Amino acid sequence: MQSLRSLGLNPSYRAPSSWWEHVPIAHWLVAQLQPGLIVELGSHYGVSFFSFCEAAAAFSEHSFVYAVDNWQGDEHAGAYGEEVFQRVSLEQQQQHSQRSRLVRSSFDEAATHFAPQSLDLIHIDGLHTYAAVQHDLNTWLPKLKPGGTILFHDINVRERDFGVWQLWEELKGATDVHTVEVLNGHGLGIATYAAAAPAWHAQFSEVAALLTAKGQLLEQLAQLRPDSTFGETDLRPYKQQLQQAQAENKYLRDHSLRTAVKRLLHR
Ligand SMILES: C[S@@+](CC[C@H](N)C(=O)[O-])C[C@H]1O[C@@H](n2cnc3c(N)ncnc32)[C@H](O)[C@@H]1O
Repeated sequence: MQSLRSLGLNPSYRAPSSWWEHVPIAHWLVAQLQPGLIVELGSHYGVSFFSFCEAAAAFSEHSFVYAVDNWQGDEHAGAYGEEVFQRVSLEQQQQHSQRSRLVRSSFDEAATHFAPQSLDLIHIDGLHTYAAVQHDLNTWLPKLKPGGTILFHDINVRERDFGVWQLWEELKGATDVHTVEVLNGHGLGIATYAAAAPAWHAQFSEVAALLTAKGQLLEQLAQLRPDSTFGETDLRPYKQQLQQAQAENKYLRDHSLRTAVKRLLHR
């Protein structure tokens, strides 16, 4: 199936993140939508950001990705040191300088440098209180092209003062907003601002379980060694478990995913 070619892409950048389960979704979206400008609000170690970049490199040469972050942290991500920005910056310069740019500032300051209705895809993943995410949406929605899409991470976190779920409920009932979602991996909401739901939403619903199965595998692999690439020895004790998961999970029996998993195992 043409819409599944992104399953063959395996991430080459690895770092700690709660976003791993959605990486195949980011790959699929970029391959499918061929977005012009993508802006991410909240990148931290860059796992979601580089998933857009890697998919752009593989499937969408005209995409350009901006990562906006102060690279200092927030109440939910915690404060972190300068080494995080250095790591993201090095990878961006070495692998993706022609298709991306880091914007080190507050989200509000960055918003003043983007034209109205200029963005195809926005990923909102900053502070996750209701007030913060609502503010980020209100600030950046005017920057979205008609028919454009906004991704919201953490729509399914029901603890502490996380409130993305509440905003997400409101969006699901709003006029001229069409939504699809996955609830695993803290939840990812996909909202398209258009008069009618785009055809790709139905396609997404068909392939979401398959993308999620690969995402869960990536999450497990990332947890095993979050900070470095995997060598054969690292994976050996884990292979059996993966093969077991593959046998049990009907989605992993799909040919293209089997090929993707094989590639992961033999890196
Ligand atoms: C949840 S993390 C992002 C995780 C990332 N998307 C990933 O793939 O792992 C949130 C990030 O947003 C940044 N952030 C939060 N609010 C911000 C603001 N108003 N301006 C700039 N950066 C902000 C924090 O510094 C933090 O790195």
